[in-house]
Amino acid sequence: MSVIALDSLFGGPSRGHPPGSVFCQVDLADRPALEAVFTKHKIDAVMHFAAEALVAKSVSEPSIFYAPTWPAA
Ligand SMILES: NC(=O)c1ccc[n+]([C@@H]2O[C@H](COP(=O)([O-])OP(=O)(O)OC[C@H]3O[C@@H](n4cnc5c(N)ncnc54)[C@H](O)[C@@H]3O)[C@@H](O)[C@H]2O)c1
Repeated sequence: MSVIALDSLFGGPSRGHPPGSVFCQVDLADRPALEAVFTKHKIDAVMHFAAEALVAKSVSEPSIFYAPTWPAA
């Protein structure tokens, strides 16, 4: 399988992309950038693990955790 790994790197330098994968620095909330990835690559399945996952950050910078959702397409 070919793997396309996307990460904004908001969480710091990349740590876990599989050897041989294509890496794209993309914010998943940036719809045009995401659509460009889907246009460039034939993608059959998506596994989504991106998150602001740190509880301490959710307390110190709560506004990040209330970002608006995408408008309906
Ligand atoms: N680590 C744990 O103990 C644990 C436990 C339960 C659930 N989870 C869940 O598993 C998933 C991965 O956790 P992790 O420990 O690998 O977290 P992590 O912080 O190491 O990785 C999350 C990655 O998401 C990226 N990211 C954040 N916002 C993004 C955006 N808008 N666009 C693109 N990339 C973005 C960050 O840069 C980071 O590299 C998360 O959904 C987390 O909530 C983790």
